Amino acid sequence: MDTLSIIKPDDWHLHLRDSPYLQKILVHSANQFARAIIMPNLTPPVRNSNDAESYRQRILSALPQGSNFQPLMTLYLTDNTSLDDIHQAAESNSIVGLKLYPAGATTNSDAGVTDLKKMYPVFDAMQQRNLVLQVHGESNKKEVDIFDREKVFIEDSLDPVRRQFPELRIVFEHITTADAVDYVSSENSHLAATITPHHLLINRNDLFTGGIRPHHYCLPVAKREQHRLALITAATKGKANFFAGTDSAPHARNKKESSCGCAGIYSAFSAIELYAEAFEISQNFSNFEAFMSLNGPTFYQLPVNQDKITIQKSCWTLPTTLNYVDDELIPFKAGQTLQWRLIENA
Ligand code: NCD
Ligand code: ZN
Repeated sequence: MDTLSIIKPDDWHLHLRDSPYLQKILVHSANQFARAIIMPNLTPPVRNSNDAESYRQRILSALPQGSNFQPLMTLYLTDNTSLDDIHQAAESNSIVGLKLYPAGATTNSDAGVTDLKKMYPVFDAMQQRNLVLQVHGESNKKEVDIFDREKVFIEDSLDPVRRQFPELRIVFEHITTADAVDYVSSENSHLAATITPHHLLINRNDLFTGGIRPHHYCLPVAKREQHRLALITAATKGKANFFAGTDSAPHARNKKESSCGCAGIYSAFSAIELYAEAFEISQNFSNFEAFMSLNGPTFYQLPVNQDKITIQKSCWTLPTTLNYVDDELIPFKAGQTLQWRLIENA
């Protein structure tokens, strides 16, 4: 098999930042995907329907001419999110969900939720209005070992929310552990998970090969090899509640290569090819289309795309740097060779 055509994929977790960076990076996602869920962690965050609509307009105006790329908007949950905010979001045609960042858990999460229990009335309204809760699933307790934060979050936060709101549709974003795979697999169709290309392709050793590797640092941080293998199995097995979400999160080179480097990996430039690389490891593409293009729309209750894309087995080399306004952006796998290339995108 050296070419493969599938229904055009969507990116179910994407950071597009804002002007002027937005203008530099949007083209990469628009070249690859039909739609993307746009994360709301701007400064200040996207907190209500008005913020989301003006951000959506900025995204649409930054699109290359002729692009049909569709941004699907999310709101950032804070301690002050009101029931009115939820009802207005439910009335909007462009907002699909609300993102829960435990305060301090990741980049631009300081305005996030400090006490999950206090959000229960908001979750109740979201459940009633059929809005999706997207979750950054890591404990924000500083005393919890960074490699255990996802597992602890499942036990002390996610599972209690699932039990209290069984009809609330939740996406456990960018999962990194076998524990998360097992938990999501054991639940029903109201819980799904996104998996990033980088968590399928690197483990925690890759953060330290020959020295510290800031461009492999993201949150949740990559885990042991056994966890990466569990993610590969989850992605390739075709189960409906796992789908692609890149968590492509650009940071300027000088912010990554620093004494306190930012968390975030930029994969949007070659996201589909990176996922293909991961499926190549398992030598089984039979569920590639399900993972990339079918499971996401089914969970989000959106139509499956009409267009098709084609990838071809042919080696190519990623650029070493990309332009990022007054700095550079280092794409994931910069300067390395990939085996699959996107050759047709309707
Ligand atoms: C993201 C970012 O930079 O916005 N960083 C990351 O490491 N993934 C935030 C997030 O999704 O956690
Ligand atoms: Zn993210």
